[in-house]
Formats: sequence, C-alpha cells, structure tokens
Amino acid sequence: MCGIAGYIGFRRADEVIISALKRLEYRGYDSWGIAVKHGNEIRLIKRVGAIGDAKAYNVADGNLGVGHTRWATHGKPSEINAHPHTDCSGKIAVVHNGIISNFQSLREELENRGHEFKSETDTEVIAHLIEENYGGDLKEAVEKAVSRLRGSYALVTLHAERDELVAARYKSPLVLGVGDEEWIIASDVPAILDYTSRVVYLEDGDLVVLRRNGFEIWSGGKKIERRAETIPWSIEDAEKGGYEHFMLKEIHETPRVIEDTLFEYLSEDIEIDVSFSAGISEVVFIACGTSYHASLIGKYLIEKLTGIPVRVEFASEFIYHQPPLHRALAIAITQSGETADTLEAMRIAKKLGARTLAIVNVLGSTATRIADHVLYTRAGPEISVAATKSFIAQLIVLYLIALKLSGMPGSDVNRLIDELRIMPELVRKILGREDEIRQTAERLATFENMMYIGRGIGVPIAMEGALKMKEISYIHAEAYPAGELKHGPFALLGKKTPVIASLIPDETYEIMLNNIKEVKARESIVVAVAEEDDREVEKYVDHVIRVPKTEHIFTAVTHSIALQLLAYYTARKRGCEIDKPRNLAKSVTVE
Ligand code: F6R
Repeated sequence: MCGIAGYIGFRRADEVIISALKRLEYRGYDSWGIAVKHGNEIRLIKRVGAIGDAKAYNVADGNLGVGHTRWATHGKPSEINAHPHTDCSGKIAVVHNGIISNFQSLREELENRGHEFKSETDTEVIAHLIEENYGGDLKEAVEKAVSRLRGSYALVTLHAERDELVAARYKSPLVLGVGDEEWIIASDVPAILDYTSRVVYLEDGDLVVLRRNGFEIWSGGKKIERRAETIPWSIEDAEKGGYEHFMLKEIHETPRVIEDTLFEYLSEDIEIDVSFSAGISEVVFIACGTSYHASLIGKYLIEKLTGIPVRVEFASEFIYHQPPLHRALAIAITQSGETADTLEAMRIAKKLGARTLAIVNVLGSTATRIADHVLYTRAGPEISVAATKSFIAQLIVLYLIALKLSGMPGSDVNRLIDELRIMPELVRKILGREDEIRQTAERLATFENMMYIGRGIGVPIAMEGALKMKEISYIHAEAYPAGELKHGPFALLGKKTPVIASLIPDETYEIMLNNIKEVKARESIVVAVAEEDDREVEKYVDHVIRVPKTEHIFTAVTHSIALQLLAYYTARKRGCEIDKPRNLAKSVTVE
C-alpha cells in the first residue's frame, strides 16, 4: 500500500515530507514524489526506486507540500505514474491511496471535455475533477470531486495559489498530526511521530482543511469536532499499527484486501478478461510454498466448477520434469513475482507451447513481464515472511476465474458472488474470536509434532495450515488427506501428536467425523475447525475453532484465517521470531 504525507507549518516542507515518507518505507514502494508550493507555483519531483539520502533533494524553499510513496496498482512503476498528479493548469497537485473503481469512465468523460492525461493512473482523474470544480474555493472543489468517485481514497491536495491543504478520506486510512503551529497529515502514524504524538484519526467521509492558523474537519456538509489522541507507541510499534507483529497486522488487513481485490474485478459482473482460456484443453498450475497451496485450491475450484482438467506442479519440479502439455494454460501463482523456480518454470512452460497467466501481487515484477496475461491480487506489500493476506487474495482471484469460466446458470453464479461479497464481514467475525483461538493455540504450544487433516478442499487447507505452523512455530506439522491416515501416518498418532481437523460442510463431512473418531481412539488431542452452529463435532473433539457458515468452496478463506491465527498464537507462546523465521526469506530468488 502506498504512503501519503502532507505538511503545512514553519519548517521546509520538502525536508519534513521526505523524512515522513522514509518512515513509511517499511511498507514497500516502487516510486515516489513530492510537490511543494513555491510562491504561486508548484515545484515537483518524482523518482523511481528508493528515496535514499533525504538531504540530496532541494525541491523548493516552501513550507506547504504533499508527498507520496507509490506501490503501483494502475500503471507500471515510472516517474509519470508516480504521485503527485497535477491537472492541466499544473496548479493543483494530488496524492492518493486507494482504488478509484470508476476511473475509466471518469477519464473518458474528462477527456471528452478536453482534459489531457499524462499518466495511466486512476489518481490523475481526481486532479482533473478538482480543476473542473475549482472556482477559488479548494475545499468546495474537492468536495464536489470526491462526490464523483467510487472505490476507496485517502487524498491530500494543494493549489499553488492557496495557503492550505485539503484532504479527504473514504475507506483508506488518513491521520492528522497536530503539532505546535504545524500540521502533518499522513496515511500512517509512523510518518507523524517525529513531529508530534498528538493525532486525530479521520473517518470515512471526512474532509479536512489545514491552514496555518488551524484545521477544520467537515463531514456530511457540516463542520465537526474530532478528538485528538496521544499516541503512546514508539515508531517501531507504530509501523506495526500497534500490533505486536507484522504477521498479525497483515492477517487483520485481510477484510480490506478482499474488498480491494473484489473491487478490482467485480462490478455488476466479473470483470476478468478470460481470453487466456480460449481453446485450452488443460490448466497447469506452477508455484511454490503457500502459492502452491493456493494452486491446489485453484485446481479444486476449476475442476469442480468448469470441468477443465487441472494439474498442479511444484515449480522446482516442473523445471526438470517438463511434462507433456496439451493446449495448456500454465497459471503461475506468485506473491512476489520474483521466485526463481516459478520464473524458470514459466519460461519452460512457454517453451513447451503453453499460454501463460501470472497471478501476482507485485506490479512490474519479473513474472508480469514473462507472462502472456497477468491478474493482480490487491494485497498490498506483505512484510512478514509468512504469506497470509496475499494467500487469501490469491484465493479471491481464483474464485473469480473459476466462477467466470463455469458453465453454471447465472442465478447460481450470482448467489456465489453475493456470498463472496460478504466474505470481508465473515473474516471480521473470525478476527473477533481471536482470543478463543489464542487460548487453543496456547494449549498446543508445548507439543513438538502435529498432524493436519482434511478431505476435498480441506486437504490443501490442511497443507497450508501445517506450513504456517511449521514455518513460524518450528513445530513439525504434517498434513494428510484424512482417508490416508490409516495407510501409514496412524503410526505417528497418540497423546503427543495433536490433530487439527478441517471439517468442510459438504459430502465429506460425515466421513471426516468418522476419521476424527478413529483419531480420538489413538488418544490424540483433536482441534476441529468447524461451522459456528455445528453441534455434532463438539461431541468428539477436544477444542472447536468456530468459523461462520459459508458455501463449502469459500471455507478455504474462513478456515485458513483461523489456521493462520492458530499458528501465529502458537508461535507467539513459544517466543518465536514470527516475522522473520530462521532460515527463510520473503522472496526466494535462487533456484
Ligand atoms: C510461506 C511462504 C512461502 C511462499 C513461497 C512462494 O508462508 O510465504 O512458501 O509462498 O516462497 O513465494 P511467491 O508467492 O512470492 O512466489
């Protein structure tokens, strides 16, 4: 996610803004820029890459400005696409976080009225809308402009002829730092803490005007008061948004990530161009680690909903195995877009004649340049080594692909889409039960071995749950299809090996209950992940982690969130270094 900083006060704005942006660097970005009011002009710089030495930039001797670190969404990382964006007159500068879902139609409308665009971004429409509505009152112009926007935004804007900043927020965070005769507005608290620890958290629909003599907040056309709070955190705590670890913060970001990914690809209909599937006879997924588990869920979905045969290959095996492909679509799933094995497997798949599609989180990454087609997940930067929110975003894209390709009647597709739209709420419900999951996790923390089991879609859910557990808690965790236990793994079960069972509300439910009874007969502790109104399972297991009721295919989201939290709290109880587990890297760029 991008970072925003705006300043008005008595210091040099370029210095304050650059130092504030550097405080947001931990979130990741690919380009940046700042605009400072100098007399009645705007002085602007934009750069690709890291900020580096803050002292190296002398933008202008002014004390009012805005700046931005960009994590590319619409349009590649480049100076032109970097913020701030300006209008035709060059008098208005805007920085923005979020996604404007109706930007295409707004852009066409503005172009028809003679506006010329320089970038590929959704943000630039905001500058032009403000320009159209500006008649000397910047607040009024911003108010009118944002009334045309759909999607999410946190934005800060300045006009070269006005001694003020105007900001607006809707579904994207914005905080105002209140200093002594200076104000700094930013997307995140760490950007502010070097200057003040007094902040006002802005809310959806707020419009803020910052002037040298103070600030005003407007909401629903009325001036309102919002209380300033004193932040007790250090900068390091603030980077984690007050969470103890990035992993927990990122799990908590999942509802937003689902909303953003759905925004990207869902309006009335599923807005995914599936021309990549024309004429194919099979799908081959290539991926590693968590992305491999997302692929297994993708296989389940595509085979169930479309009937197209699907194989899933570890990228590292595909490279040497080079299986025969027949009119294949090779789908590479990779959060980073830089995993060496996945990139090599993509190159080989192309050589073997496959069409390639990459599902990627990082815009402009190498995978996006190799693939014939690209679909982005909208998870934002993920800092913790363990993939959490990015995995869920991958699942959301896979649901949409499978639904779009399915031959199901429209009414059935619409019913499933409606269910998907409420998924952020269901995830929030699970997060609300975090404390119960923590208590269960703390009982598991003394064990050295665990077994995860499931059936159907529950198998890849179990595999991903076990991977999360082993990588961050260092507990040896294996995953098996429940029906396979009696073919060997039963020998491992007993009092010292708890079993985590995912109970999916589908045709596998009854047989899973039988498997659980078999496991209990071996005296293992059993933790079941089950629906909230399931009264049957509690008769047979030691602990139940409750998840809200949903369509069985969507349990991959609900169960995985519960299992991510289970792994997190187990590792926390064991005092592990959760965000940077030993021997692991976020991006595996060697084969
Ligand atoms: C586990 C994890 C890894 C990655 C794997 C692939 O939590 O994060 O298993 O999923 O290294 O990475 P990407 O998706 O970047 O290709």
